[in-house]
Amino acid sequence: MEFDAGYLAEWANLLLRWLHIITGIAWIGASFYFIALDNSLDPPADGNRLVRGEQWSIHGGGVYYKRKYINAPEALPEKLHWFKWEAYWTWMSGFALFVLIYWGQASTYLIDPAVLDLPVWLAILLSALMLVGGWVGYDLLCRSRFGENETKLLAAGAAMLVVATLIATHLFSGRGAFLLIGAMTGTIMVANVAMVIIPGQRKMVAAMRAGETPDPKYGAWGKQRSVHNTYLTLPVLFLMISPHYPLIYQHHLNWLLLILLALAGALVRQFFVLRHSGRRNWALPAGGALAVALIFVIAAPRPDPRFAGVEAPPFQDVQALVASHCAQCHAARPTFEGIAVAPKGVMLETPQQIRRWAAAMRQQVQSEAMPPGNLTDMTTEQRAQIIAWIAAGARVE
Ligand code: HEC
Repeated sequence: MEFDAGYLAEWANLLLRWLHIITGIAWIGASFYFIALDNSLDPPADGNRLVRGEQWSIHGGGVYYKRKYINAPEALPEKLHWFKWEAYWTWMSGFALFVLIYWGQASTYLIDPAVLDLPVWLAILLSALMLVGGWVGYDLLCRSRFGENETKLLAAGAAMLVVATLIATHLFSGRGAFLLIGAMTGTIMVANVAMVIIPGQRKMVAAMRAGETPDPKYGAWGKQRSVHNTYLTLPVLFLMISPHYPLIYQHHLNWLLLILLALAGALVRQFFVLRHSGRRNWALPAGGALAVALIFVIAAPRPDPRFAGVEAPPFQDVQALVASHCAQCHAARPTFEGIAVAPKGVMLETPQQIRRWAAAMRQQVQSEAMPPGNLTDMTTEQRAQIIAWIAAGARVE
């Protein structure tokens, strides 16, 4: 029995995505939990001066008692639970998925000739540079004098995000740019764990085991990076689901929409972070809602003059267009190299199928999300014809 490459890639995609979501949930779950715990600690009831705070809680049918030490406990027990593999596996599975989809099928997903007609090798190189450059830039920023002042650091970090977003959206397809900024930010988050938090904790533990007081700077650095991670979480999660929403990534102002969404996510997260310590600042989610409302208005489809005033062609013409521009991929047996099964189950061969998917086709053709990277060279006139036919009721007889 022989399995073709497209079929194997589909399976790799499925298993990696499943793993990525599971490990991501485990990581972010633990991370949210500890931020919430940290911000809701009460002063220790026994007045222990080494303890910053403690919490009693109940979960899953059991009562828990946790304490956080200011720097070091009186003695460190033999067994200490570490949290790191959730983060590492999230990155490894995510990076593998990125390579499989955005590098393995760069001309479909990463490159859009309407943005910039990059050769595949250059697109891969540039996206790799951005993945590494994002971490290097951010880490240098944190270690520079900006790092001592959270407000300045926030401003510099936001400026960095804006610049990276502008670069990515002018180099890559909308979808590729969004995913790349998400992957870049996710890489920063995991590198915070692997390069700062865990090494710092190792030094702390080594000092404690040697009976010394650990240098408090390691704890402070770890805390700073872990707080950054919490604000980056919601924006990254949006970017990871953004491939479902061409109305946003395919918009001509997609860079602005990305920045507004990142802002909305960070503001909402800040609201919850404050709420854990009993403060409620409603201006934060209100600001987030305002940003989303702005996106809602900006992204609203407007009648496109290029598609206006076109008469609906007979169905035969539409079917011929779909056969030559879509059905290579959207068929029971796709003929397009690397596509093993009809993407998203969308088959566009029979009149019934074309009719069934008409609304989705309109969205994809209008936003120019399909054909991906305009791989089958669809002209504006051809798009206009399909749209006019759908607008006139998508009649197949
Ligand atoms: C080169 C292969 C290819 C061609 C040609 C192509 N598509 Fe697609 N299409 C895809 C892929 C891949 C996806 C899945 C994208 C994803 O993973 O989100 C897709 C998804 C879709 C979807 C589902 C979108 C969703 O997320 O629900 C529709 C509808 C669609 N295509 C319509 C079209 C139409 C109409 C054409 C022709 C104008 C076309 N496609 C041409 C590869 C192709």
